[in-house]
Amino acid sequence: MSEILRVNVGLGERAYDVLVGSGALAAAGAELGERFPRGRAILVTDRHVANLHLERVSDQLAGLGLRVDPIIVEPGETSKSWAGLESVVDALLDRNVERSEAIIALGGGVIGDLTGFAAAVTKRGVDFIQIPTTLLAQVDSSVGGKTGINTRHGKNFAGAFHQPRLVIADRDLLATLPDRERRAGYAEIVKAALIGDAPLFDRLEAAGKDVLDGAALDAAVAAAIAFKARIVAEDEREGGVRALLNLGHTFGHAFEADAPKDMIRHGEAVAVGTALAFAYSAHRGDCPAVDANRVSAHLRAVGLPASPAELAHTDWDAASLVDRMRDDKKNRDGRITLILARAIGDAWIDPAADEADLLAFMETQLS
Ligand code: NAD
Ligand code: GLY
Repeated sequence: MSEILRVNVGLGERAYDVLVGSGALAAAGAELGERFPRGRAILVTDRHVANLHLERVSDQLAGLGLRVDPIIVEPGETSKSWAGLESVVDALLDRNVERSEAIIALGGGVIGDLTGFAAAVTKRGVDFIQIPTTLLAQVDSSVGGKTGINTRHGKNFAGAFHQPRLVIADRDLLATLPDRERRAGYAEIVKAALIGDAPLFDRLEAAGKDVLDGAALDAAVAAAIAFKARIVAEDEREGGVRALLNLGHTFGHAFEADAPKDMIRHGEAVAVGTALAFAYSAHRGDCPAVDANRVSAHLRAVGLPASPAELAHTDWDAASLVDRMRDDKKNRDGRITLILARAIGDAWIDPAADEADLLAFMETQLS
């Protein structure tokens, strides 16, 4: 067990803590146990995570006097669907879940988003606790209360803001995470630094690949969460500044949408999207080229892609990608909103990108 770092998400009566570090689940103790007055913990997870971690997590919860009642769904985005939501809500109702008890989401972003949405709508809202098991879920999706599913119109197009009561980001759960998933999650730490924490980016650069493991990872995870917590506390429902957390995502979602299913990881698309957001900012003369180059160099140094050609799928079409950007949820009045940068640690929101210029830029990036 290492030192447990604690980050508070300051949302008044809905404020909660995020515990970070090796042994965080054991350290949560009573503050976790008190959420289950009936002595049972309904826990939603996916089959991969169940095979790897359910027994150990159940044993730890048994130590708090809790009996785990698992709901196991198939791994992958397909579970983040109307059908997946229906099956989880029905499973909760089959177990006669009460509003007095919380449910647990044990898994990656898919499980957190799906379980959180099920918690938001079941009996008009039950509490939930996030125990994220991917790096991406630890640094990003488990914190901030965005929950939801994908529809035929797009990713995360149905959902609710529903904050968890507690988040336990236990590094021990990441021990089984494949390197590719770990790197994909790391892209979201880099993103947080690039938006508004330049000293964090300096530290990431200095630590290089070592930051992907050990105590250095705990500090980076906690810093990224603390950054996100500040933004969420200021703008919970994304009326303004929270949109900054989408740095790299407008470009990234376009690559995800245009790639064959499951070919590229969300974090890989975000890595390329972030590099492009900086390159485009430099192209516009808004950001020093040296900063854009530092971003790409660091992404590559840790094994992440920094250009479209470095993704697992490479058959891209600039017009189609810009078309995808038009579907982004951030857009207003039919204009593409882009998160751009003035420098490392200084992102800003352009609510009306020049589409002709953006298309020309994308064509050069793909040529
Ligand atoms: P994921 O949940 O699909 O997990 C990736 C894979 O890793 C799955 O196969 C899973 O079974 C496996 N896995 C999980 N934990 C593991 C472990 N400890 N060891 C081994 N394998 C493990 O994907 P993800 O990358 O965690 O999350 C992506 C999802 O998160 C997307 O749906 C995205 O939209 C969502 N997201 C939401 C937010 C938000 O704010 N709510 C933010 C970012 C991303
Ligand atoms: N992942 C972006 C957000 O939580 O707002």
